[in-house]
Amino acid sequence: QELELKLEELEKGGFDHYMLKEIYEQPRSIRDCMRGRINAAEGKIALGGIKEYANKLKNVERVVIVACGTSWHAGLAGEYLIEEYARVPVEVEYASEFRYRNPIINERDVVIAISQSGETADTMAAIEIAKDKGATIFGICNVVGASIPRVTHAGVYTHAGPEIGVASTKAFTAQVTVLTLMAFYIAQQRGTLTTSKLTSLLTELNSIPEKVQTVLANNELIKDIAAKVKDSRNCLFLGRGSGFPVALEGALKLKEISYIHAEGYPAAEMKHGPIALIDKEMPVVFIATKNSSYEKVISNIQEVKARKGIVIAIVTKGDTEVEKMVDYCIEIPDADEAFLPLLATIPLQLLSYHIAVMRGCNVDQPRNLAKSVTVE
Ligand code: G6P
Repeated sequence: QELELKLEELEKGGFDHYMLKEIYEQPRSIRDCMRGRINAAEGKIALGGIKEYANKLKNVERVVIVACGTSWHAGLAGEYLIEEYARVPVEVEYASEFRYRNPIINERDVVIAISQSGETADTMAAIEIAKDKGATIFGICNVVGASIPRVTHAGVYTHAGPEIGVASTKAFTAQVTVLTLMAFYIAQQRGTLTTSKLTSLLTELNSIPEKVQTVLANNELIKDIAAKVKDSRNCLFLGRGSGFPVALEGALKLKEISYIHAEGYPAAEMKHGPIALIDKEMPVVFIATKNSSYEKVISNIQEVKARKGIVIAIVTKGDTEVEKMVDYCIEIPDADEAFLPLLATIPLQLLSYHIAVMRGCNVDQPRNLAKSVTVE
């Protein structure tokens, strides 16, 4: 047993928990996920796993994404990317809902199933149904040779390496990276992005691992903020556009490991409900980076401050405007909106991690949760 303990320490690589180690691995896991797949200089993407379907993608009329949990959030981030760059309509479905409602799917559809473990029962069942209806099924999985990659027609592995912490971190950013590549790949087949635009996007994508590294350097600051809000009973996460899936994932992470009730919402929907909950006890985390919805998010922040909520804002480095309005700011490097989920998720993972540790929770194995849900 002593040996087992020592082995575990070794596996954690000097970190207190697997989750923290896995958060810190992200510059590497994102890089591994892109390796051999992008040629920035020529503005080209190669995805060996789905290359036989290049023609299919050229004429695809609809993409349906099925997944559960964190993987479903990655799917939402994928929806923004595929619609924006490849101009194909995308629907993102909970696999558990999709499988039980006689979904309308045909042979012209491409279904993308996202699963870290490749074993989730609901996702498996959703794939079988879509396959029976003639759709082409792609998998985005982390575990090589798992059940889902075996039943899909084609797919792209995330190559994040084994994820031990039950709450998904590096697998999520790897899934989003693959979806980013897929969006660009579909765009390439359909001619919806010029080579020069693709070149600049890919060049920037190449710099994302370094940018993630700079976000991680904010760890101490994030820990200080965690100490201030750790006793909260509720927490809201708000974002717009591609900041919305980030908000959902931030809320899920917090509730999974710290047992604080948390909800993610599109910031504009706040006025249709969550605003009623805001008082001086309520932390509200905003994705308030400088992108197309910046001004609108600022007015949402003002609405929260007017009700004395505690605002934690994820902002673009150098932002001074938001800083003046909010209680706490966490900076992330400037980046194209396409890459916002890859950067803005990182501080939220750290925030949840520190809050959970401070509350004495078992961050790697939260109560009642399983890493892979192979039953209904
Ligand atoms: C469980 C895990 C989550 C995961 C979800 C989907 O709930 O605790 O972290 O996001 O299953 O799992 P999958 O392996 O299909 O991505």
